[in-house]
Amino acid sequence: MWIRDVEVAGIARLAPMAGISNAPFRLIARECGSALTTSEEIDAISLIRGSPVALDIARYLPEERPIAMQLLGADAGLLVAAAELLQEQGASIIDLNMGCPMRKITRQGKGAALMQDVCATAGVIRALRKAVRVPFTAKIRGGWDDDHLNAVEVAQMLEDEGVEAIVVHPRTRSQLFTGKAPWDVIRDVVEAVRIPVTGNGDVTSLAQAREMMALTGCAGVMIGRGALGRPWIFDEGFERLPAPERWAYKRRVITRHIDLIERTFDARYAHNQLRKQLAWYVEAGLPHSNAARHAVHSGRSAEEVKAAYWAWFEEACANALSGETANDCGAERLAWASG
Ligand SMILES: Cc1cc2nc3c(=O)[nH]c(=O)nc-3n(C[C@H](O)[C@H](O)[C@H](O)COP(=O)(O)O)c2cc1C
Repeated sequence: MWIRDVEVAGIARLAPMAGISNAPFRLIARECGSALTTSEEIDAISLIRGSPVALDIARYLPEERPIAMQLLGADAGLLVAAAELLQEQGASIIDLNMGCPMRKITRQGKGAALMQDVCATAGVIRALRKAVRVPFTAKIRGGWDDDHLNAVEVAQMLEDEGVEAIVVHPRTRSQLFTGKAPWDVIRDVVEAVRIPVTGNGDVTSLAQAREMMALTGCAGVMIGRGALGRPWIFDEGFERLPAPERWAYKRRVITRHIDLIERTFDARYAHNQLRKQLAWYVEAGLPHSNAARHAVHSGRSAEEVKAAYWAWFEEACANALSGETANDCGAERLAWASG
């Protein structure tokens, strides 16, 4: 799929997730095969005011490019000013968040609230369209609630106003992230517009991404929660690797992820991120995973968190690869530990 001159190089890409899909995780996902990078939502007012949090969220690593930077806002003037800042910062695509369901966001008219008054939102989109020189995209939901399922109407308005691609997460705002995502809404949008549509919702493997594309006709898929602790989900070859290589692959990716977290963030935020991200890397259903997740999450320093994680990993790796292969795994651990 192409979004004007930006190639989306693959069928699946990482979805934006506030507090999670930061630069280290995005780069890891990209290196595993995620087809395009999208930033977390960046609040337009906070960015213009120079809030350190917003500026941090807007930061990215050069290797992540091309990068879509996602804006959150309701006021046309503020969104235009913020989009200009992001363009100066090198955004390859400007994306507008029209799907965030959180009450503290929607009561300010932002996120999914933009789907409520389609006429008023068309004005916001028009202003942004004039200001945005790079490709301009939007991410929408199925609608506000079951009585207001207007994804098709909103998508057609976006196309008419010059938006170049859309992502559809088909749950309504009131569904938040509960229930099953109704993929037929994605198909309805695909059939109603000519611009590329990316589907999103409950995809946890590339096989499911292909199923979504076959059932809905969407041009690509975004994966959010399914990629937590499993960035290799974007790698076609991962599942086909023999077990020892799969574990070696995981070790490489997790080691690099830790390194990126520690290089990108200050010590306090790095500790916080390590607790969160490494807890996701503890695979459910393996021996001691609950206890390990707890130990990782409650580690009082980065060193404690990492030690708890690697202790679980080594045991899980050795259990998974019995006999000689377990020794291979141990040899690789030593190679890793000695740098
Ligand atoms: C913790 C969390 C944070 C999210 N933050 C954003 C965001 O910043 N921007 C956005 O467009 N969607 C955001 N989403 C929605 C996801 O991009 C995605 O639409 C949703 O998780 C459904 O996809 P999934 O079933 O693959 O997870 C967030 C979702 C979660 C769970």
